[in-house]
Amino acid sequence: MPRVLLVVCGGIAAYKAVEVLRGLQRAQCDVRVLCTRDALEFVGAATWEGLVHHRVSTSLYEDAHSTIPHIELATWAEAVLVVPATANILAKMACGLVDDLASTALLAVPKTTPVVVAPAMNTHMWLADATQRNVATIASRGVEFVLPVEGHLACNEVGTGKLAPVESIVECTLRALKGRTCQSLSGRHVLVTAGPTHEAIDPVRYLANASSGKMGYAIAREAALRGARVTLVSGPVSLSEPRGVQRVSVVSASQMRDAVMEAFPQCDVAICAAAVADYTPANPADHKLKKASEHMDCIRLVETTDILAALGAAKEEGGRRRVVVGFAAETNDLVVHAQDKLARKGCDLVVANDVSRQDSGFGTDTNRVTLVAPNGVDELPTLSKDEVAERILDRVEELLAKAEGGMR
Ligand code: CTP
Repeated sequence: MPRVLLVVCGGIAAYKAVEVLRGLQRAQCDVRVLCTRDALEFVGAATWEGLVHHRVSTSLYEDAHSTIPHIELATWAEAVLVVPATANILAKMACGLVDDLASTALLAVPKTTPVVVAPAMNTHMWLADATQRNVATIASRGVEFVLPVEGHLACNEVGTGKLAPVESIVECTLRALKGRTCQSLSGRHVLVTAGPTHEAIDPVRYLANASSGKMGYAIAREAALRGARVTLVSGPVSLSEPRGVQRVSVVSASQMRDAVMEAFPQCDVAICAAAVADYTPANPADHKLKKASEHMDCIRLVETTDILAALGAAKEEGGRRRVVVGFAAETNDLVVHAQDKLARKGCDLVVANDVSRQDSGFGTDTNRVTLVAPNGVDELPTLSKDEVAERILDRVEELLAKAEGGMR
C-alpha cells in the first residue's frame, strides 16, 4: 500500500483534510496523520485516530514508541501532503524554520520523496507578498502546489484562498505517488520544448505569443515521475522547474534550436510543445529604437528554423530510432492540419488542439486535444493538462516499444 504522511495545519479547512484522508484511503493508501497543535483545535485527535487507527502525531516528544518521531515519519512516507497549508507553515517551509513536529518532519523529508502542498487562507494573507514569495521559494524546490481557488471564505470575504477541491488534492497526491512506483520511462532520455520564444526587435522590444508553457511543463513533470531523465528546453515562462527535470532556459527560436540540437543525439524521445516563433526580425537593432528619429513603419522578418521538422528528419541518425512528437495549435480543420504536420515534419504523433476553444490551448489549465498518428485519430475529452500529459506519455511508451521492435 502506498504510504502517505498527511500533515494537517490549523485552519478552518482542516475539516476538509478529513475528506482528503478518506479519498486517499479509498485509493488504497496507508495514511498517517500529523497534526499541529492548532489543527487539533479544528478537528480533534479522536476523529483522526478513529479513521486511521494510528495515534495522531502532534509532538516531538510525546511518543514513547518512537525516539525520533520526525525522522521516522519523514522517512516512512512515500509522499507527503500538507492540507490545509497555512501562511505559517509556508513561511516555515520556505526558510527551513523548525519549532514543532510538523515543520521538523517537513524539513526531514528526503529530497526524492514528493511533497504536495494545498494552501487555504484569507485572500489578503494568500496574496501578501510574503506568502507569494514563500510559495515561489518552496515551488522552486520542486514541491507541488494544489493552488487555492476563488470562493466564499470563512472570514466572509469572497476571493482566492479557498482550499482546492478535495478530488484535485487526492489526484495530485496519487500522481506524485505513481512516480515512486511506476518507473516505465526509467533509463530513457526525454527532451521537451515548452513556452513561447521572444524575438528581439531591439534590446527592449520583442515579438512573442501567448504560450504559458503549462502543457510542456506538465509533460516534463510526468516524464520525470515515470523515471525518465528529462531535458526541458524552455522559453521565457513564469513556471518553476519541475522536480527532477533539467531545465535549459532560452529566449529566442535560434537559442531554442541550438539547445534542442545539442540534446537530441542522446535522446530517445523529443516532444515539441513550445510555441516557437515562425518568423524573427531580420535585423534587430542593437540600441533602443527612438520614436521620433527612427520612423518605424515595417519590420522585415525572416523565417526561423522549424525545430520539430529538423528533429523529424534526424530521428534515425546514429543508429537509433527516436520517437518525435509535435503539437498543432489550430483554429479550424484541426485533424486535416494535424495530419499535414505529421507528414511534413516527420513526426510519430501530433497532439492537435483547437486554440479557439475557451477550455483549451494557451494559458488554460485544461486542454482538449486530438492525438493524430499515421494509423489513426484519437479524440480525447477535456482534461487537465496533467492528464493530457499522462495520455501523451502512454502513447509515447507504445511508440517506443514499436520503434524498438522495428529496429530489431
Ligand atoms: N515548431 C518548431 N519550430 C518552429 C515552429 C514550430 O519546433 N520554428 C513546432 C512546435 O513546437 C509544434 C509544431 O512545430 O510542435 C507545430 O507548430 P505550428 O506553429 O502549429 O506549425 P507551423 O509549421 O508553423 O504551421 P502553421 O503556422 O502553418 O500552422
